[in-house]
Amino acid sequence: MTNITVIGGGYVGLSLSVMISQKYKVTILDSDTERVNDINYRHSYLKDDHLKKALKSKKLNIQATTNKKKAIENADVIFCCLPTDFDTKINSFKTKLIEEYATYCLRLNKSALFVIKSTVPIGFTNQLIEKISHNILFVPEFLREGTAYMDSCFPDRIVIGYSDRLLDSDLTLINKILISCTKNNPKVIKTGASEAESIKLFSNTYLAARVAFFNEVDSFSLAKNLNTEDIIRGISSDKRIGDHYNNPSFGYGGYCLPKDVKQSDASFKQIPQSIFKATISSNSKRATHLANYLKSKNVSRVGFYRLNMKMDSDNIRESSTITLLNKLSNSKFNLVIYEPLIHSKTFQNTKVEKDLDKFVRNSDIIVANRMDKISLKFKDKVFTRDLFSKDT
Ligand SMILES: NC(=O)c1ccc[n+]([C@@H]2O[C@H](COP(=O)([O-])OP(=O)(O)OC[C@H]3O[C@@H](n4cnc5c(N)ncnc54)[C@H](O)[C@@H]3O)[C@@H](O)[C@H]2O)c1
Repeated sequence: MTNITVIGGGYVGLSLSVMISQKYKVTILDSDTERVNDINYRHSYLKDDHLKKALKSKKLNIQATTNKKKAIENADVIFCCLPTDFDTKINSFKTKLIEEYATYCLRLNKSALFVIKSTVPIGFTNQLIEKISHNILFVPEFLREGTAYMDSCFPDRIVIGYSDRLLDSDLTLINKILISCTKNNPKVIKTGASEAESIKLFSNTYLAARVAFFNEVDSFSLAKNLNTEDIIRGISSDKRIGDHYNNPSFGYGGYCLPKDVKQSDASFKQIPQSIFKATISSNSKRATHLANYLKSKNVSRVGFYRLNMKMDSDNIRESSTITLLNKLSNSKFNLVIYEPLIHSKTFQNTKVEKDLDKFVRNSDIIVANRMDKISLKFKDKVFTRDLFSKDT
């Protein structure tokens, strides 16, 4: 029986664990006791309907713990799904935690295979292999929040990044685990660890650049009073361009895209490039453009309907609506927020209204990144750039 330990039971770790624990024995190691208890009671703290259902209804060989030693000492494979926030002081992801865990794991359990699923800087895995003299794989994750479990089960591709030191048996094992647990027999790309890290970071940068492109088309149309919907439909009808990731928004946001684009940009150092930098700058200009557009309106009370990034997301990490809110915070407007995810009375000094009717009544204009069933009821007041009723 292969024992698998997953460090970090967030979007990536919990989705992976629920998927592989249908075939393997899985231990989740997380420092958050509440999350550990939730998992052990088969309760999902993430807003993901398929994940919730799978936790309740599937036969899962899974347990969660905060006990590092217990989780690590008998593991054959350790998946590391810890956060990697961007640190502006060092212009790179924070990876210290991963290094500490890798060192700890491999000291306690030399035979375990350590697999990094967290998004890391290009070159990180090979540097870590050199530092601690052990086999480590980098297998990037491409899931989206909200559909995390289904994206894990039906991935577009599996990328396995390895170094020359890796034993064939380890590569075979990881391939077997991932292929046997996914449900669509995905394409497997085996490549060097640095190439795999590049695939992950540059994929997200491409998506962000695409969002920025369609947002700039929308900014132009808004300024010239043109019909953006017709323009984007026309552009997207070209098969080479396609009808996806083309819905205008307040900007790209969420946990991954902003930090991954910054990390991609930082990777270039002396290598000439413009697109990566331009993507970051475009996203910031977009928010300024929309803020100026709103400031030109003859209204005084501006409501923000939801701060979450996507229609169904359960968090407000790096939301582009918050960027827009900040750009208006010192303006002439009286601002108010409606966001059920926030339980405090204010958010960044702006009042949070709990009563939706009151919120709608007391707003002259309501800013919403994405439309949903609720906002459709007061759509005459809404300012949105959501033209195609989809997240991306
Ligand atoms: N969220 C996504 O959509 C997504 C998609 C692809 C890749 N990624 C990458 O995967 C990684 C994890 O992202 P996530 O969204 O799952 O993060 P998350 O914040 O949802 O989950 C991280 C988990 O790690 C736990 N944790 C934090 N510090 C810990 C510690 N010292 N010891 C044990 N547990 C600890 C937290 O309690 C939490 O449960 C990041 O590198 C991210 O860039 C995320």
